[in-house]
Amino acid sequence: MRPTEQIYSNYTPEDFLVWKTLFNRQLKNLENKVSSEFMYSLERIEFNADAIPDFVQVNKKLNTFTGWQLVTVPNISEVDSFFKFLAQKKFTSTCWLRTMQQLDYLEEPDMFHDVFGHTPLLSNKSYSVFFEAMGKLAAKHIHQKEIILKLQRLYWFTIEFGLIKEDNKLKAFGAGIISSKEETENAIGNRSLKTDFDIDRIMEHDFRTDILQNEYYVIDSFEQLGHCLKQFEKEIEEVLL
Ligand SMILES: [Fe+2]
Repeated sequence: MRPTEQIYSNYTPEDFLVWKTLFNRQLKNLENKVSSEFMYSLERIEFNADAIPDFVQVNKKLNTFTGWQLVTVPNISEVDSFFKFLAQKKFTSTCWLRTMQQLDYLEEPDMFHDVFGHTPLLSNKSYSVFFEAMGKLAAKHIHQKEIILKLQRLYWFTIEFGLIKEDNKLKAFGAGIISSKEETENAIGNRSLKTDFDIDRIMEHDFRTDILQNEYYVIDSFEQLGHCLKQFEKEIEEVLL
């Protein structure tokens, strides 16, 4: 059974070792490959290799910066519940860690993915405004499967696997890239396709969760995401009228 709440004293020496190993390894691996805003936000939220983040402290910090909060869940959330929490500026996160034998491959997200990968950027205003707006839009149309599927695709190609252009170089900001050594190399290297962000194309783009991605979308700024979401909302409301 996965824990449903974080009890800090339950973490074992192996948990601390897993966090430290992955943290140090990814930080090195992400050099020149990750968005500078991710690095600022990692510092702002004060994560480090020696301590598994304590959700009480993380929530205090997030509250000061953007008002977001982590809510502990045992496993990956159902789509409906995930989006409903987002609409309330709450990100559902696991609080358990993979074992040392599972460093490179895990079938479901653990807290290294949820906390290291997703949480720092929740302290960034433009990013978090976009994330909340996506949640609100999904919550509003939660019974319309087609709209939810489109929003899942948008989530996938931005929050999980998004790239951003900085000084004409491609940098990762998606948590699925940031928390994985292989995905970082695949996303930034030449083996995968990079496409300029195009919301209409993304909404129609099916994705797979069980392989490295073969195509990544590149944004110019987090503000661009918010702007496109407004355009998408206008389009779906016109269709629904
Ligand atoms: Fe994720």
